[in-house]
Parts: sequence; structure tokens; C-alpha cells
Amino acid sequence: MKKNLAVVGIQWGDEGKGKIVDILSEGFDCVARYQGGHNAGHTVSFGNRRHVLHLIPSGIFQPKVTCVIGCGVVLDPLALIEESQAIEKALSIQMQGRLFVSNRCHLILPYHRVLEAAIEKQLGERRIGTTSRGIGPAYEDKMGRRGLRVCDLMTPETLREKIAALVAEKNRVLEALKYPQTIDPDPICDSYTRFGETMKSFVCDTSALLNKLVREGKSILFEGAQGTLLDIDHGTFPYVTSSNAAAGGVAAGTGISPKHVHRILGICKAYATRVGGGPFPTESVEPAGDQLRIRGNEYGSTTGRPRRCGWFDGPAARYATMINALDSVAVTKIDVLDAFGEIPFCTEYKYKGSILTEFPADAAILGAVEPVYKRLRGWQTATAGIKEWAKLPAAAQDYLKFLSDYLEVPVSMVSTGASREETIRL
Ligand code: GDP
Ligand code: IMO
Ligand code: MG
Repeated sequence: MKKNLAVVGIQWGDEGKGKIVDILSEGFDCVARYQGGHNAGHTVSFGNRRHVLHLIPSGIFQPKVTCVIGCGVVLDPLALIEESQAIEKALSIQMQGRLFVSNRCHLILPYHRVLEAAIEKQLGERRIGTTSRGIGPAYEDKMGRRGLRVCDLMTPETLREKIAALVAEKNRVLEALKYPQTIDPDPICDSYTRFGETMKSFVCDTSALLNKLVREGKSILFEGAQGTLLDIDHGTFPYVTSSNAAAGGVAAGTGISPKHVHRILGICKAYATRVGGGPFPTESVEPAGDQLRIRGNEYGSTTGRPRRCGWFDGPAARYATMINALDSVAVTKIDVLDAFGEIPFCTEYKYKGSILTEFPADAAILGAVEPVYKRLRGWQTATAGIKEWAKLPAAAQDYLKFLSDYLEVPVSMVSTGASREETIRL
């Protein structure tokens, strides 16, 4: 049966994946994360409460859904323990038997955050503006074949030795970077031994678990973190995260064959935002950018940083649509545009006087393009909380139809507010 679905962001993250995954997960047996780490901040709102998830899949609030953290995720054990305990406490949700963590996940260690700080400091003006969670350095150690994995926590006898060797190497790097801090391996060994003990009951071979679910005819939703334009290969390199956020990352990050990923849903905001450095052609500095930030409450769910805001970037979204071969899109935060009399929609990029036919690989070129806008009619009436397409003002319907025609994919959901009910399903 062809029913497994990947849900991916098609902009620079924070598209509203958490909200959409929470709603859709009701119809799935399992929700699995396949990449990223606690750099993600996925907001789910229901019952007048707002929950921000960083590592735990956004299916956790649906009682019958099994949640999996796949091998492609880089895991900070303390972040996971704290997050799961906070949810258990706030909502009396038992994680045992609901949450499964891959024994192949690479670990984030405290020295990854120190190294990240050192590297960002060195970059100065060219810094990426990361979330400071140690994500990049942890993936570097994975690709460099020296990282520690969750399975290493399960053999405490040899853990101390492994950590000591890695810390010695990191201290040499920090010294070379002239960074005024060194790492002491002993407290890390002690705490990671304890974390292993606490996590033990969640840990398993999640690739085997997921493949068993597939064999049993169960349905899986793969939850992307970040967005396609932050993908290490397809995004606006080097201003990206260090994993494959696009749908291509699902198979490697879960141990499920691409044969079993049947449909791809892209999530985008009705406008655009980005946190951190890097090119953002449609960025609007005041007053419209500020208005979008205020209306959309555009502050990072993980770091609290103000998000940079701007208009819908058509060429970037079209490129992401191609990379993911989307079946449909869910458009979120349409209500944020309620205030505007006219809404610019970027349809093309101009560079050195010519229209670009491809999304540029070079961040310097993307940073220099001139967006060409089509000015669409605003609606200036409230769409917040609308649940039916027919109730949307005509200009809002036109805006969404224009977006859908432009991307050449149907719009399957429209979000008109943060909470579960504020959603139009098409
Ligand atoms: P994610 O990382 O893709 O899950 O998105 P975030 O949770 O980081 O950011 C999306 C923000 O927008 C959250 O604060 C959501 O509660 C909020 N949100 C989601 N959909 C809507 C919507 O349709 N309208 C409004 N006003 N807010 C929304
Ligand atoms: P969700 O899943 C928005 C950005 C950071 C920085 C770059 C690299 O909530 O959409 P990293 O810490 O990953 O090495 O930072 O990526 N970034 C995000 N931006 N939403 C996210 O996740 C992000 N995760 C990372 O701001 O520019
Ligand atoms: Mg987010």
C-alpha cells in the first residue's frame, strides 16, 4: 500500500512543519525524524497551549503514534532527556513504548558546541549564524568517521577511553584556533555514562523497527527538520545546516528504502523568513519586514532570535519543489498577510540585467540577484481561524491559486492560525 509520507520544509525552516505534522500524524502509525538535531524548533499548539519540540517527533501528542528518532539525527542526550521529561510532566504522556531512538545516531558532545563557537568566532562577518547546538561539528565527526554513537553509550566499559581520545584531539584543535578554553574529559565521561543508563530503554535498531512496520502494512510519516534551502547539498551553501533536510535525506536517515517513501508534502509560509546569515533575495527591511515579524511573531522557536522576513520567493520555492518532487504544498500563516493592501510575490531573479533560468549555486550570486515582483491584490480582512476554503476572501484564494499555479503543485492545506483547528484541508 502506498501511504508513507515525507513532510519537508521548502524554505529556510520554520515553515510550520510542527503544526502540520501534528495534525497529519493522527492518520499515521508512526512519525520518524530523519535528520538534524535539537537545532529544530517545531511548534504544536492545541488547547490554548504551545509546545515546542526540538528532537521528539511532532507525532508525540497523538496517543497511538509511535515516534522514532532515526539514525540520521545527531543527538544531544541531555536535550532528549530534558525534552522527554518536560513532556511527560506537562501532559502526562508516557515516553516508554512511544519513543524509540536509533542506536546508530551520532552523539553531540559538549566539545562540539565549544568548537562551533570557536569556528563561528573565527568566521567573523562571514559566520553562519548557527543555533550553537553543536550540530555542524557533530556531523563533521560523523563524516570524518570518528564520531561517537548512541550504541557507544551502551558499553560504558569502553566509553571513557573513547571520549578521552576524542577530547585530546579536540583540545589540539582548540589550541590551534587559539581559543581560550580546553575540555576536561572526566565530567563528560561521567555524565554521558549516566545519560546512557537513562536512555537505555528508548534505544533500539530503529531501522529494523521501521522496516518491520512497513512489512506489517503500517504507515509512516517522515518529519523533516529545517528546510530545503538549508539542506547541506541543495541549500544556499555555505549558509546551510549540516544535514539533508530535503526528502532525499529520508532513506539514509531512517534505514528505509526510498521505495517506501510514496508521497512528499512541502510546507511553506505564505511569505518568507530566514534566521542566521546568508542570502535572502526577497528580504524586506522595514516597514514591511517589521510588520511581517510582528504579525507573524517571527522569533526563533529554538534561539529566540528575530527572524529576517520578506516576501514569497517564487524561484527558491520552485527550485525546492523540483528537488523534492512535491505532490502538494501546505501553505501556512496566510493570516499574517491579512494587513497588506498589496502583496509582492517574487516570480523571477534578475542578475546583471538578465533573468536567471536556474537557482544559483553560488551564494554570492544569490546575494546579488534583483527579485522581480508581481504585485498581487491584498484582502485586508481577517482570515485568522478560517476553516473552509469558501470562506476565504477572494483575493486570498487568488493569492493561493497563483502560488499553486506558479509551483505547478496543488495546495492541499492552508493554515490560518497556530492551533490545530485553524486549518483548511483541501
Ligand atoms: P517549524 O519549525 O517548521 O515547525 O515552525 P516553527 O514552529 O519554528 O514556526 C512556525 C510558527 O508559526 C510557530 O510559532 C507556529 O505556532 C506558528 N504558526 C504555524 N502556522 C501558523 C499560521 O497559520 N498562522 C499563524 N499566525 N501562526 C502559525
Ligand atoms: P526548524 O526545524 C530555521 C539555521 C540556523 C543557521 C543555519 C545553520 O525549526 O525549521 P545549525 O545550528 O543547524 O548548524 O545552523 O541553519 N537553522 C534553522 N533555521 N529553522 C530551523 O529548524 C533551523 N535549524 C537550523 O539559524 O542559519
Ligand atoms: Mg522551527
